[in-house]
Parts: sequence; structure tokens; C-alpha cells
Amino acid sequence: MTIDASACPVIGVVLAIRGSVVDVRCHARLPRIFTVLRAGEQDALVEVMAHLDATSVRGVSLTSTQGLARGMLVRDSGGPLLAPVGPSIIGRMFDVFGATSDGGPPLGEVTWRSVHQAPPALTQRATTTQVFATGIKAIDALVPLERGGKAGLFGGAGVGKTVLLTEMIHNMVTHQQGLSIFCGIGERLREGEELYREMQKAGVLPSMVMVFGQMNEPPGCRFRVGHAALTMAEYLRDEQHRDVLLLVDNIFRFIQAGMEVSGLLGQMPSRLGYQSTMATELAALEERIANTAHGAITSIQAVYVPADDLTDPAAVHVFSHLSASIVLSRQRASEGLYPAIDLLHSNSKMATPGIIGARHYALASRMRQTLAQYADLKDIIAMLGLEQLSPEDRLVVGRARRLERFLTQPFSATEAFSSIPGKQVSLLDTLDGCERILADEFAHYPEEALYMIGAINEAVDKARITVDAAASSSPPSPPSPPPSPPSPPAPPAPLSPPSHLSKPTKSTPPSLPPGASPPEAHGSMTTRAATPSAGAALARTVEAAPAPAPAPIPAAAVATAAGAAP
Ligand SMILES: Nc1ncnc2c1ncn2[C@@H]1O[C@H](COP(=O)(O)OP(=O)(O)OP(=O)(O)O)[C@@H](O)[C@H]1O
Ligand SMILES: [Mg+2]
Repeated sequence: MTIDASACPVIGVVLAIRGSVVDVRCHARLPRIFTVLRAGEQDALVEVMAHLDATSVRGVSLTSTQGLARGMLVRDSGGPLLAPVGPSIIGRMFDVFGATSDGGPPLGEVTWRSVHQAPPALTQRATTTQVFATGIKAIDALVPLERGGKAGLFGGAGVGKTVLLTEMIHNMVTHQQGLSIFCGIGERLREGEELYREMQKAGVLPSMVMVFGQMNEPPGCRFRVGHAALTMAEYLRDEQHRDVLLLVDNIFRFIQAGMEVSGLLGQMPSRLGYQSTMATELAALEERIANTAHGAITSIQAVYVPADDLTDPAAVHVFSHLSASIVLSRQRASEGLYPAIDLLHSNSKMATPGIIGARHYALASRMRQTLAQYADLKDIIAMLGLEQLSPEDRLVVGRARRLERFLTQPFSATEAFSSIPGKQVSLLDTLDGCERILADEFAHYPEEALYMIGAINEAVDKARITVDAAASSSPPSPPSPPPSPPSPPAPPAPLSPPSHLSKPTKSTPPSLPPGASPPEAHGSMTTRAATPSAGAALARTVEAAPAPAPAPIPAAAVATAAGAAP
């Protein structure tokens, strides 16, 4: 807010200061709740939170209270916290007070609007439901987002929430001509700086607004920065009639700031130490994110889940506001399957045949079914090995693992350290790929060929490259033995029983060719082709496998390369 402090009338003096809590004795009438007061020489901004008695109010400071002392004068700014709105906010970075923090030129013509706004009335809300395409395969296929809806990225520390959010900005801004507002609440200060530079480098800054109240700020500031960002988003929706993507990293920090403010005000905590007003505070913010006839605010919010416990009250309350919940899994992240989306625990209200269409719905159901069957089989595989599964189950495992790998994706946001160019994939390409994997069209491909690719046709090229690399690095094959005289019927070929056609028992373990390593107890699909000879043996298995539409790739070489899958 750029109001000159000396122009504000003096309304009282500082009575007490306890950390961020400031009590003020007023000379005349009490200022309204949410009024911002300016206290002391350093102009600390204090938001009125309670009327204590006939002459005093209690507020929480939005800035540092260092240097503030009892008896200092308090001025009334005359209203609540304000956020700047106008065309000139686009491309700029702000703090909670609407001051620019990007070192750029002064802000052009803006109007100042209270950050406390009512949510749009039910009659103003749009009733149509549309899917919001992200270009990220796993999300578009299994957890479709809603245009004008709210989606949450749930996950513990370091599972990729921020990376996924950043990728969504890339996709939205570079290909959809939309506007994005990034709101950083209580996260790392450097992330804001990095994001700014990245967006500047990518040239998407002119379509972005950034608002930050990071972890170095007092709780009062972190509690209000979401409101400030939302006020700007509402302006862009209602007056500029633009579709806005509002990204919040991290909404848990908003709840946490509310908890700190509540504690500072001396209110009794509720479950697990959270404030008793958590549901109200969260609803007041979330309900403003809505779809009207003018435009839509689509919001994607990172939700830090304390100790990976999805039953934490903060996570549970956020869940209830969302139309899609994307759960990020630590296990998938540890396997390198990024984006580490837990495909079975993530869900979307959009995933109904009426909205996404019958084909997509049927395909998504089959994908979930396959993945769920694989999840059920994992324990058996860990205990007894893959060999103990029935042929049908082994096919399911192969399908599910290929599906899991196909749903990984290289991101522009991670290009710097993965050196794989980011890829966006259309929904049609994603569905096509999933359908072909479920039809076992890629059953004879190494799993690695499907890892970190874009559309499914890249698997063919990738498999060929892998095969060429494997061929060039493998030792020259020994000269073939001289032809031997006809011999009696030979014993069964080593490792030859097609793994899905015969079920080996414990008493008759499959014999291995010389030099081949034994199958791992954990039943990894990728261990058996560790040597060229084992690879050749597996190739026979592969040739015998019912592959509906073999793609143009030498099966033996493919099998040789299969050992390198992640
Ligand atoms: N899609 C991805 N591809 C490759 N690496 C990734 C990907 N997503 C995340 N990572 C790795 O995980 C690390 C942590 O990711 P990120 O910072 O997004 O986690 P976070 O969930 O936001 O964590 P925090 O809760 O601490 O903020 C990244 O630095 C990166 O190394
Ligand atoms: Mg993060």
C-alpha cells in the first residue's frame, strides 16, 4: 500500500507488544476488524484481529515489530489490506503489500482493492464442466483437472510438488496463451528468485504475476499473501475476462500461518494443535476460487503433507475443497518414476464418462485395474518371485510396469539437471499410448524404451537407440562351433519355456544358460537378460509371446537391451 503514513490520523498508542501481537489503546472509536494500523516510527503494519474492550484492540503485525515500543503513536490507514489491480500488474512480482520486489520500473496505473472479498454468488457461477488439459500424461489420463476447478498436489517433503507446479506454468503459458499467478506462501525464499529467473529466461514473464510471502516473513504476512494473490486473480477474471491459472506453493503454509496467528492471539488449539477456525479460514479462501461467466480461475495448490500422513487434519480439510487430488508418492520418487504421482491414490471428480467421454473413461478404468492388480501382486513377487505367478498375472505385471514407465515424462522444469528436453503430450497421444500398451503391443519392448518419453511412437526410436548401444558395447560373439553330427532329440532349451506359457515349480527350477545370472528373488522383470546369452534365451521367450502387432524392431536385440530398464 502506498498511502503516506503521515496523512493517516493518529488513533491511539501502543499498549503492549508480544512478538507479532500488538495491543493498541485507542483515543476515540475502535477501528474495524481487518483494518490495517501503522504503528511507531518504523511504520509497522498491524491488522486488527480483536476488540479487547471499549478502548483497546489486538492486532497481528504483518511486518517485523523490532524497534516498536509501548507508547508509540498508532495511525489508522482507514481500511483493510489492499492489493493493486490493473493491466500493469502483469509481468511483475509483488509482496503481500502490493509493493513490487523485482527491481523493475514503478508500477503503472493501478487501483487498490481490499484483499477481503466475498466469493461469487451461486447464481454467478458457471455450471458447465470442462477438462483442463495440462500436457502431462499421468494427469491428463488418470486425474483430469477441471477448468475453473481446484486441484491439490499432496506430498511430503521433496517429492516434486514445486517441480510439477513449475511445469504446469510452462505448459499453460507457452502453449495455452493463458495467464498465471504464482503465489508463494511460506516456502523457500530462493525458490521465488529461481522461478523469476527461469520464467524470465523462458520468456513467459509477460504472462505471469508473482506474489510472495515466503518463510522469512512474519505469520501475519504469510496468512494474507494468498488473499492478495486471489484478489489479483479475481480482477483478471472479472475485468480482463481472462482465464487464470493460480498456482499456490504451499497452501499448507497458509494453514500453518493461521495456526501461528491463532496461537499468538491466545486462542485454544484444536486437533493436533491446529486452530479451531481452520475450516472457516480455508473455506473463505478456497470458495473465492471459482468459475464465472466471465472467466475461470483454475487453481493448482501444492499441499505439504506432514510426515507423509494423509490423515493429517490440514490435508483432510484441503481435500474437501478439491475437484482433483494428485497424491505424490515417495516410493515412486525413489524409483525415479517422475512425476511421482501415485496413480491409484490420486483421483478426480472429472473422471466420469459424461465428462471425459466413454473411451477415455473405459481406458482409465482398465489402467487402474491393471495397476491395482500389479499392486496386489507385488507382495507375492517379493516373497516368491515372478516365476511363481500364473501366465496371466505375468502379463498383467508386464503391462502395468510398461504403463508406469510410459506415464513418466521429462519436464522442461528439470531439463537443466536431467538434460532431457521437456515434452508435452496431447490427450489423444496419451490415450493412444496407454491403449496400445494395454493391448500388449509393446510387450516385447524393453521397459526402458517407454521410460521418460513423450508420445508412444518415441518408444520405437528409443528402443532402437538402446539396441544399437547394447550391440556396440557387447563383446564379439565367439566363432560358431563346427557342425556336429545328428544327435538324439535334444533336451529342452535352457530358460526356454515361455515364461507365460508354462508354470515352473519349485522342484524343477528353470535351468540357466552358462554365464546367466539367476532370476532375482524380487522378480524384477529386467534382470534375466543380464548377459547376451540370457538375452538370446529371453528372445526366444519373446518370440513365442503373443504380441498382437510386433513393431519393427529386432526382438533378440530388444531383449538384450532389456536389462537396463530403471
Ligand atoms: N519431474 C522430475 N524429474 C526429475 N527430478 C525431479 C522431478 N520432480 C522432482 N524431482 C527431484 O526432486 C527434488 C525435489 O523436488 P521439489 O522441490 O519439487 O519437491 P517439493 O515436494 O516441492 O519439496 P518441499 O516440500 O521440500 O518443497 C528436485 O530437486 C529434483 O531433484
Ligand atoms: Mg517445494
